[in-house]
Amino acid sequence: MSDATKHDHSRIRKAVFPAAGLGTRFLPATKAQPKEMLPLVDKPIIQYVIEEAVASGMQNIIIVTGRGKNAIEDHFDVSYELERILEARGKKELLDQVRSISELIHVSYVRQKEALGLGHAILMTRELVGDEPFAVFLGDDIIESKTACMKQMMEVYDRLHCAVVALEEVPREQISRYGVIEGTEVDRGVNRRVFKIMNMVEKPSLESAPSNLAIIGRYILPPEIFDCLERTRAGAGGEIQLTDGLKELLNQQPIYGYQFEGKRYDAGDKLGFLKATVELALKRDDLGGPFREYLRSLKL
Ligand code: UTP
Repeated sequence: MSDATKHDHSRIRKAVFPAAGLGTRFLPATKAQPKEMLPLVDKPIIQYVIEEAVASGMQNIIIVTGRGKNAIEDHFDVSYELERILEARGKKELLDQVRSISELIHVSYVRQKEALGLGHAILMTRELVGDEPFAVFLGDDIIESKTACMKQMMEVYDRLHCAVVALEEVPREQISRYGVIEGTEVDRGVNRRVFKIMNMVEKPSLESAPSNLAIIGRYILPPEIFDCLERTRAGAGGEIQLTDGLKELLNQQPIYGYQFEGKRYDAGDKLGFLKATVELALKRDDLGGPFREYLRSLKL
């Protein structure tokens, strides 16, 4: 392998989006449409996350889909009929919006036949990812930040050349919903911290949680994770858990945790989804003013 190729392979080029889950927390809305297509204001959840990947310099997008997820493929495809109608009606701005997303990225799809867990969904991308490090984005977490969260993580990766997972301090009473790390702080900047991870626990009880640092849905993973996931048996909830695969990886190589600068919305949960909808709408130039006025008029 030439040095140039080697160098290329240390760059993160591919972004994996697991979107094959059943979305049970959003039933009945998700009975016949994917959770990833639920709109936050006027954009489907998955588009926010794909825009973060694009803002981080990644155009090679791999989406893991399953049964009933065709709407995701249609969304990122060219829509000739719609474009022709918008063009004929002179709706230039809408036309640009509809076109821009299918022009920005190259998307590949891989199917997870059965929802056997996040770890299993990632394993399905093995052939498309190949032998290079890659990024994983979970649509449940929408992150707003000055510098795209994944771009911040790539800077950490460029220095350490090891797996990096995103971290956030969460209130103690919520800790049991997350994968939680035990780690040592190795670097600190303004609003950012890097930890060397010693251990990870999936959904610990309040008493057994090793810290208040939870793993959030952004990861940079080396290709060795695939062998680890291959060996991982079903764990909590009968699913093949990514955290179990990461624990196996930790036996072989260091993993770092990065507490990012930015605000996260948990759009995978009904209350989080509502909060994200309100806050994102308030930030919009076209809607923020009248929406703020309306909320004030509710006199809560
Ligand atoms: P979640 O547990 O948040 O998603 O998985 P879910 O299973 O769709 O939702 P609930 O809990 O039933 O409401 C995190 C991410 O992993 C993907 C999901 O699509 C989501 O983006 N996932 C999960 C898969 O792709 N395959 C799976 O088998 C499980």
